[in-house]
Amino acid sequence: MGFEYSYGELMKYAIIYWSRYGNGKKIVDYLAGKLKEKGGEVQIFKTSDVNPAAMPEADLYVFSAPTEAFNIQKNMRSFMKKLEGMEGKRYGIINTHAMERNWLHKMEKLLSKKKMVKVAGVDFRVGKDADTGNSLTGNWEKKLDEFASML
Ligand SMILES: Cc1cc2nc3c(=O)[nH]c(=O)nc-3n(C[C@H](O)[C@H](O)[C@H](O)COP(=O)(O)O)c2cc1C
Repeated sequence: MGFEYSYGELMKYAIIYWSRYGNGKKIVDYLAGKLKEKGGEVQIFKTSDVNPAAMPEADLYVFSAPTEAFNIQKNMRSFMKKLEGMEGKRYGIINTHAMERNWLHKMEKLLSKKKMVKVAGVDFRVGKDADTGNSLTGNWEKKLDEFASML
């Protein structure tokens, strides 16, 4: 009930990400694989590859970005501020961070200004060697499996 799609129809996902060192890229690549396993059609874009005022059609949008300088990284922030025509569209959010707290609330605030509808959010703490791009801690795959099942 309440869903725009029905069984048998392909769920279309658009993942928009920004990643400096590749940890976030690893996350969205893994997530894309999981969503495809669910039978979804998945497109991945860097923030620089898509026009926020003319977004590709999708049933659900996923945004992924790191925390930088006590905020969501600025390319993603300005991307979100420039979104147009996204009223009522559903989204999931992903934040990577090195310090204890996450900044999902900031992404949520920016997207609620666009009247988008949150489905799920997940964050990942990276280790000290984040600049290797290989610094995701704990069982990040399992966390993403759970996130993917909500989308
Ligand atoms: C310039 C810069 C500023 C950062 N500031 C913060 C911060 O304020 N809080 C935090 O938790 N992590 C901070 N970090 C760590 C990033 O969150 C971490 O490098 C990122 O999540 C790794 O993801 P990526 O490999 O996708 O870029 C900062 C990193 C950089 C490069």
